[in-house]
Amino acid sequence: MTAKIISGREVAENILTTNLKNKVIELNKKNINPKLIVILVGDMKASASYVAQKEKFAVKAGIESDILRFESTVTEEQILQEINKINNDNSIHGVIVQLPLPDHISVAKVLNSIDPSKDVDGFTPTNVGKLFLGEDTLVSCTPKGIMQMLDSTGTDLNGKNVTVVGRSNIVGKPAAILCLQQNATVTMCHSRTKDLDAKLSDADVIIVAVGIPKFIHGDQIPENCIVIDVGIHNIEGKLCGDVDFESASKKATAITPVPGGVGPMTVCALIENTIIAAERIG
Ligand code: GUN
Repeated sequence: MTAKIISGREVAENILTTNLKNKVIELNKKNINPKLIVILVGDMKASASYVAQKEKFAVKAGIESDILRFESTVTEEQILQEINKINNDNSIHGVIVQLPLPDHISVAKVLNSIDPSKDVDGFTPTNVGKLFLGEDTLVSCTPKGIMQMLDSTGTDLNGKNVTVVGRSNIVGKPAAILCLQQNATVTMCHSRTKDLDAKLSDADVIIVAVGIPKFIHGDQIPENCIVIDVGIHNIEGKLCGDVDFESASKKATAITPVPGGVGPMTVCALIENTIIAAERIG
């Protein structure tokens, strides 16, 4: 079998230029102009490229975005002061701090300082807690994008087996919670799981966010399975995911490509969260 390719690029483009653009037009009529601030520290190439995509997508949906750039020598206090200003600025609806940060800055301290109502990454303890409790919240962007991609395939997760490989706070854990909320039976695995093959063998959906290039191969994927690959790695100038696409695409029913899969959906979800944050104050 050759897998259907789930194009995150296409799904994101569709959401941005229809749903989201229309929502922005409605907000503009009420004199609300959704605005996102991205705090970028240092000059990491990968971060700069993610941030550039965020700006591009903001334009597609018709929202404002600004990047606040800081040298990698910036102090934690300076970043906290900047966030405090943003928290108190009514013209700004969403803020994210691009990760990773230099070692001398506490990620936890910085994230905790963001007003949860402007936390469009969904990383603050308040928003993570609300997600855990099933309350309305700003949902972390990659898991939200994954659910939208699954939805675009017409997959109903009710009673299905979802195996999540990877236990990060940003992807694995929230993705598992979102799947549980749709009545899936979720198995959480990670790089130290014993007999991973057995855990994958009855999966209807596999979500891989383990951060190891080509960690999952086609021979580990059961029949009729959808594979979502969250990883992105540059190996000798070539991009690949956490899944070996070549073998996996021969086995899965549907699979996300790298690049052009989860990445654009994450950025699209960020723009959507900024619009939701703006709608809440309207
Ligand atoms: N770095 C890699 N992914 C992300 C993300 O989703 N949000 C932020 N803020 N930084 C990241």
